Amino acid sequence: MTSTPAATAQVGVVGLAVMGRNLARNFAHHGYTVAVYNRTAARTEELMAAYGDEGFVPATELADFVASLERPRRVVIMVQAGKGTDATIDALAELLEPGDIVVDGGNAHYEDTRRREAALREKGLHFFGVGISGGEEGALNGPSIMPGGSAEGYKAIGPLLEDISAKYDGEPCCAHIGPDGAGHFVKMVHNGIEYADMEFIAEAYDVLRSAGLSIEEISATFRQWNTGDLDSYLIEITSEVLDQVDAKTGKALVDVIADSAGQKGTGRWTVQIALELGVPVNTIAESVFARSVSGHADLRAAGQEHVPGPAHSFDPADRAQLVEDVRKALWTAKVVAYAQGLDLIRTASLTYDWNIDVASVASLWRAGCIIRARLLERIRAEYAGHNLPTLLAAPSIIDGIAEANEGARRAIGTAMQAGVPVPGFAAALAYLDQVRAQRLPAALIQGQRDYFGAHTYQRTDAEGTFHTEWSADRSETKLD
Ligand code: 6PG
Repeated sequence: MTSTPAATAQVGVVGLAVMGRNLARNFAHHGYTVAVYNRTAARTEELMAAYGDEGFVPATELADFVASLERPRRVVIMVQAGKGTDATIDALAELLEPGDIVVDGGNAHYEDTRRREAALREKGLHFFGVGISGGEEGALNGPSIMPGGSAEGYKAIGPLLEDISAKYDGEPCCAHIGPDGAGHFVKMVHNGIEYADMEFIAEAYDVLRSAGLSIEEISATFRQWNTGDLDSYLIEITSEVLDQVDAKTGKALVDVIADSAGQKGTGRWTVQIALELGVPVNTIAESVFARSVSGHADLRAAGQEHVPGPAHSFDPADRAQLVEDVRKALWTAKVVAYAQGLDLIRTASLTYDWNIDVASVASLWRAGCIIRARLLERIRAEYAGHNLPTLLAAPSIIDGIAEANEGARRAIGTAMQAGVPVPGFAAALAYLDQVRAQRLPAALIQGQRDYFGAHTYQRTDAEGTFHTEWSADRSETKLD
């Protein structure tokens, strides 16, 4: 008979695949005693064999794991999102007591998080949906953390999460985002922006490559850009990826990797929800679709065979100018993606009554996460204390767009004329032109709708709703 373990651990981690293991070690490195449990005991044994001296309390039974935790018990679940999460939560809920805290650190859909939070609240438990960004390295050494859950529960779990998070100028990249699904929603939008940012970088690379620059020259260009306003983790790793030589063929690895991009779904969720909430996020949508086009082998084979158009290459009149123009296009598109993502967060916050502070969201993306970038400090400062209708209305962003405008348009126009696909760049530019237009052709759409469906329209010069008798004498009727 085994005895019940003493409650000596301040936090517990369930699920010891690489993210869970690294997060558990991160807690341990910050002086916490960490209870660890994995459904397959071999994983727990591996952790103990390699890092057992770092401060873990291993358990082979979930009940022992729970018993080894100090109260209120703080349990972080790091299992594969979906059914695994529900099964783990259900099993834990049987063993936990009111006041205990359950954290889901996976990339769960925020609606699942809302459902789980409501169910556990009924049992007196605090459920936290926590977005964690930064990959394996971040989990170990300091991720960006986006927790959603009750303010009361945050008092018990927040300080631990803040401790293990990345720091920007000494400030933790972790802050209470809001209740129930708010944290996972913000992480989802982070990923949507991540998709857009990656697409823009890929388009910049493609334009430069099509203009005859070598991979080495493009890598050096990104490295150079990374010393300025575009400074970001994704630009940094782009140079590294471009520099990689394939051991088998001696070619650049990027020329050997199949050109079909995968996705696990968070970018798609962002677009689906944006459609539902009526928030235009066309840059993110194009980045999801671009991955999707890349994976359609049949479509691409047919297109390659039949669709006419200019060659996917061109000879720039002034190379240095083109490089600078592409940099400006990249900067502009990046700003638009942030503006759209933050708009989506603002709208969701109003819809769900989450009270999310957009400046705080920008602040905890400044370090640790995949989209960390120098620009985020500026975005934070622009939102702090200001109720911006859009990031595009922020003074320093307006100046930046004005400065980049001519070059960005030239780069995007050149790419389109040369047949280089730039769906992300083009979407960003179209969005800017839409929002700044004094008049949109939506008036014509309203006329068409009224013509075939009597859907009515408003006038610019009078109150009320109007309909034209299109199939009769074409007189106008005022309906209210
Ligand atoms: C992060 C990443 C992480 C994951 C992406 C990859 O913030 O650490 O976003 O969550 O790597 O979800 O997504 P895809 O496989 O869909 O590209």
